[in-house]
Amino acid sequence: MEIFIDSADVAEIRDVAAMGVIDGVTTNPTLVARTGRSLREVIVEICEIVDGPISAEVISTDYEGIVREGRQLAALHRNVVVKVPLIAEGLKAVRTLASEGIRTNVTLCFSAPQALLAAKAGATYISPFIGRIDDAAGDGMALVEQIVGIYRNYGLRTKVLAASIRHPVHVVQAARLGAHAATVPHKVIHQLLSHPLTDVGLARFLEDARRSPGGGRG
Ligand code: G3P
Repeated sequence: MEIFIDSADVAEIRDVAAMGVIDGVTTNPTLVARTGRSLREVIVEICEIVDGPISAEVISTDYEGIVREGRQLAALHRNVVVKVPLIAEGLKAVRTLASEGIRTNVTLCFSAPQALLAAKAGATYISPFIGRIDDAAGDGMALVEQIVGIYRNYGLRTKVLAASIRHPVHVVQAARLGAHAATVPHKVIHQLLSHPLTDVGLARFLEDARRSPGGGRG
């Protein structure tokens, strides 16, 4: 499974990139706004840090505007994936961008039929928003299961990118269901790697090593 970090904070991105555990980055207008920097500046810097798909979102909602922004974003770097909202004008733009070889990540997906249409339009990735569905008392992971199943039934090549991940169990469930990718906040990536028994075990080993001749060093 591809693991992306869902962040526009370059310090967070550098932290997880150094561990070699991420394949790409997703951003959205909210995450970029938090940085106080321009989208262009942030995306260019992220592309220098991570050599993988970097999602940058358009803010137009009409076909011409989405295509124009999409081309501009794609021109920033070969790794840019244009994030497009799941609306009719968005799917028209996805079709055009796909015909030009520009990859897209169709975002704000909350239903299986939306995901089916995004794949038909030629989306590279579909982003079902798991956490926001759960927040509304729905079952976000059931949506991932439906989309993965539908895409498999028909050999659709769009990749399922589990988004709006809130905790480690979301990542595990998405992986078990066969989602191609998950985009995970920085905090959750650290939650994925930590375990209290690892900390307890390490503390014990270090304590025992200090009592050994030479302090446990070779
Ligand atoms: O980037 C899209 C998605 O991951 C947003 O997540 O936490 O704002 O629902 P969240």
